[in-house]
Amino acid sequence: MARQFFVGGNFKANGTKKQVTQIIDNLNSQELPKEVEVVIAPPSLYIDLAVKENKQPTVQVGAQNVFNKPPGAYTGELTAEQILDVGATWTLTGHSERRTIIKESDEFIAEKTKYALDNGLKVILCIGETLDERKSDVTLQVCARQLDAVSKIVSDWKNIVVAYEPVWAIGTGLAATPDDAQETHKGIREHLAKTIGKEQAEATRILYGGSVNGKNAPDFRDKADIDGFLVGGASLKPEFVDIIKSRL
Ligand code: PGA
Repeated sequence: MARQFFVGGNFKANGTKKQVTQIIDNLNSQELPKEVEVVIAPPSLYIDLAVKENKQPTVQVGAQNVFNKPPGAYTGELTAEQILDVGATWTLTGHSERRTIIKESDEFIAEKTKYALDNGLKVILCIGETLDERKSDVTLQVCARQLDAVSKIVSDWKNIVVAYEPVWAIGTGLAATPDDAQETHKGIREHLAKTIGKEQAEATRILYGGSVNGKNAPDFRDKADIDGFLVGGASLKPEFVDIIKSRL
C-alpha cells in the first residue's frame, strides 16, 4: 500500500513573529510537490499567525503540544478546541523533550493523543529511545511501551502519524543511519500489526526524526518503512524545502 510521504517541521521554542513569517513566506514562494503532506508546528503563540500567513494548500499548521482536557481552569495549557479554533489541524504529542524535560508519562501522552483525536485534531505521536536505552538494546521495547499506552485507549489510528525519533539523534547532528532507522521502523510496524491490526499498521505512516537535513534526507528514500520525516533545526532553514522535495 502506498503511504503518502509526510514532512513535519517542529520549530520548538524558536523564532519570533518576524522569523516565523519569513519561514512561511519562503514556503509560500516555492513550488511544493502536491503529493507531499507538510505540517509545520510553530511555537503556540504563533500558530494563529502561521495559519493566516500560510498560502500553500499542501501545508498545514499544527501545535507542538496539547492538553488532555477541554478548555477550563488549567493555567498555561493549550486545548485541542483552541488549536482547531485558530485553524490548525494537527498536534504533536509525546515529543522526547516533553517526555524527558517536562516528565510527561506514557499515560498522560496517550490521554492527550486520545483527547486531540476525539476532538478532531490529527496527531504526530513521537516515540523513541534514549542513548542509554539504545546501549542496553531495548529500543523496540521502549517504542512498544510508548505505543501500547496509546493503543490501549485509541483503536482508530487513521489520524495518527508515528514519528520515531531516537533521543540521541535529536539536535546532535548524528542522524541514525538509514539502515538502522529502517530496521527500527520495521520493528515498530510489526509491533503495531500485533496491537492495532495488520491493515492499520500497513496504513500508518512512520516518520524518522533526528538531525534530518537537506543533505541526508535523500539517503532514506529507498527505505520501505520510512514514510517521511519530522524535522527540528532544519525546518527553520530554507533547506526544509529540500527535505520536502527529497523523494521527487
Ligand atoms: P532535529 O530535531 O531535527 O533538530 O534533530 C528533530 C525533532 O526533535 O523533532
